[in-house]
Amino acid sequence: KDEHRLLHSQVQCGYTKPQTLAFRPCAVELPPMRLCTMRVSCGWEGGLRFSTSCVRNVVIKHVTIIGGGQMGAGIAQVAASTGHTVTLVDTSEDILKKSIKGIEGSLKRVVKKKFADKPEAGEEFIQKVLKNVAISSDAKAAVQSTDLVLEAIVENLKIKQDLFGALDKVAPEHTVFASNTSSLPITDIASSTARLDRFGGLHFFNPVPMMKLVEVIGTSSTSQETFDSLLNFSKALGKTPVSCKDTPGFIVNRLLVPYMMEAIRLHERGSAPLCHGSKEDIDIAMKLGAGYPMGPFELLDYVGLDTAKFIMDGWSAMDPGNPLFAQSELLNKLVAEGKYGKKTGEGFYKYK
Ligand SMILES: NC(=O)c1ccc[n+]([C@@H]2O[C@H](COP(=O)([O-])OP(=O)(O)OC[C@H]3O[C@@H](n4cnc5c(N)ncnc54)[C@H](O)[C@@H]3O)[C@@H](O)[C@H]2O)c1
Ligand SMILES: *[C@@H]1O[C@H](CO)[C@@H](O)[C@H](O)[C@H]1NC(C)=O
Ligand SMILES: *[C@@H]1O[C@H](CO)[C@@H](O)[C@H](O)[C@H]1NC(C)=O
Repeated sequence: KDEHRLLHSQVQCGYTKPQTLAFRPCAVELPPMRLCTMRVSCGWEGGLRFSTSCVRNVVIKHVTIIGGGQMGAGIAQVAASTGHTVTLVDTSEDILKKSIKGIEGSLKRVVKKKFADKPEAGEEFIQKVLKNVAISSDAKAAVQSTDLVLEAIVENLKIKQDLFGALDKVAPEHTVFASNTSSLPITDIASSTARLDRFGGLHFFNPVPMMKLVEVIGTSSTSQETFDSLLNFSKALGKTPVSCKDTPGFIVNRLLVPYMMEAIRLHERGSAPLCHGSKEDIDIAMKLGAGYPMGPFELLDYVGLDTAKFIMDGWSAMDPGNPLFAQSELLNKLVAEGKYGKKTGEGFYKYK
């Protein structure tokens, strides 16, 4: 019924006289107390331009996470622990059952520390958090009523675009979309949707429950309201957000990835018989000399050599002449041999 009621509002616009405008409220059900404001901008003609979308301060309470891998499960755990309701989406019930098992295991570790002398309170906390997490293998159904869609699926532009394009058609108008991509431009992912102003990036760090940082990414089309609600959401998760432009690597990876590549190059330049620049020495040097918790080769093995190469290849395709993004023969060789690091048992180092 509300859809037929016109709202009237006074708008003061530049040189023109205040005008009374009539427009429809959002065609979505609004929880009480959430005001729907129309965004109005002044054109040079002195007239008014409207964006057809409703822009309002969206307090993110219900989150839909697409991708129940290690990453998605981590954020689901943190969001559910901080009083949000979460729907975790993946392609099959089996994967989702594993995700929930993973969350449960991780919560048990948290509780062991937090509720060391109150095991019942700890168990109660786990049950409360798990109650906040629903699972679904139907993404379109899961986004019918949600404040935020956070995507953490495979790092493939076409797949991400197809997913968001489809969800854009069914998600409520107020819903904010965000990708956790670490190497693709948010702008490119958003281009498959008609909600460029309600699209941004939320880049978490592994392991999500431990790492305090969230990079919040705004494109040139992201509205201030969307950006603010992503900042607010990050804080509500107990994280510390930093604001980033939609440029390759945002802040952390833009500095970290070239640093790791330079460590490999330094090692490649090291020469026998004195063995300057052994990977062990470089790791020790950066830990003891720069205070880093891991050396660059330990970090590469942890991140995954395939992932590091994938990111570098993407960047050098975008900016071919940049020496920071140049190929490393040694990295290429290890990846070709399937030595990806910790996850395969061998990378720069061997793991048992
Ligand atoms: N692991 C890392 O350190 C790392 C590195 C680079 C980027 N990332 C970011 O994290 C995201 C996820 O990475 P991950 O390591 O968790 O991957 P993952 O393979 O562990 O998890 C991805 C999950 O998404 C599911 N999925 C794939 N397509 C789907 C679809 N269309 N609908 C629903 N579910 C779908 C898969 O079944 C899988 O469970 C990536 O997109 C990337 O942006 C992570
Ligand atoms: C996002 O990607 C980073 C790696 O780039 C990963 O460590 C983190 O867990 C991911 N989080 C989600 C929610 O996908
Ligand atoms: C973000 O939080 C601040 C402070 O609580 C609040 O004033 C503001 O309206 C919020 N913005 C959005 C978009 O949710």
